[in-house]
Amino acid sequence: MDVQQNEILLVVGMKGSGKTTLARAIFAAHPRAAVLDSRRQFGGAPIASGQTAADWLWPRRDKGDFSVIVRPTGGPDEADFWSCWGEEGFMRDCLLVVDEIDRYIGPSSGRPELEHVIHYGRHDRVSLVATARRPANVGPLIRSQADCIASFAMRETVDLEALASRLPAAELPTLGVGDYIISEPCGLIELGGKPCLSGARRKRRRAGSAPTSSESGDTAGELPGDDDG
Ligand SMILES: Nc1ncnc2c1ncn2[C@@H]1O[C@H](COP(=O)(O)OP(=O)(O)OP(=O)(O)O)[C@@H](O)[C@H]1O
Ligand SMILES: [Mg+2]
Repeated sequence: MDVQQNEILLVVGMKGSGKTTLARAIFAAHPRAAVLDSRRQFGGAPIASGQTAADWLWPRRDKGDFSVIVRPTGGPDEADFWSCWGEEGFMRDCLLVVDEIDRYIGPSSGRPELEHVIHYGRHDRVSLVATARRPANVGPLIRSQADCIASFAMRETVDLEALASRLPAAELPTLGVGDYIISEPCGLIELGGKPCLSGARRKRRRAGSAPTSSESGDTAGELPGDDDG
């Protein structure tokens, strides 16, 4: 999966479903990209201390490849980072990745610079990849303006309803507890030549019974766990 110039991709799904992993892969493949890495999951070194995000980005605003990881602190550095994106014409032909965008944009209000990117980013050919566990928490602006929504499993009715206009529930498969879909082209469910988590196993664990001896040595199939909603 990739994001094209000017496009907004919103990735939603329960915790541990793979949102950050997907965003990281897109970030790594993009020649001009910045990520707001609030949970230190994008590896590499962030901008050197003492240098602000705007200082770093300024010489790169018009040309050249770059890849920068910004770790928000909540302080002036963060405001400084946002200032780069809140001004039309500052950054061009870039990808901005915002992991856990619900930290910055809620159901009724959000960071104005981020809303600016959502509204007008395409004028500067800025693309946006944003992740959130719960689509109900990110508000209608990005849900309505996203060119593409990638949804991992969703459990709560309120989240399904939040996506309903883009992903009609009637067209989505309804899975029973413990059921899952394996998407063959990704082929990532198979680990070590055997399924890392079978539907039957998952049902037993959810029911609280101990795994059988043939299952107990395999830690690759840890359940993602329950969502926070
Ligand atoms: N396609 C995949 N196949 C196998 N494992 C995966 C895949 N995608 C992610 N994982 C693994 O699942 C775990 C959780 O992934 P990730 O951190 O991307 O989830 P997340 O949706 O961002 O979670 P959170 O909501 O807590 O931020 C990681 O250990 C990751 O390596
Ligand atoms: Mg994540």
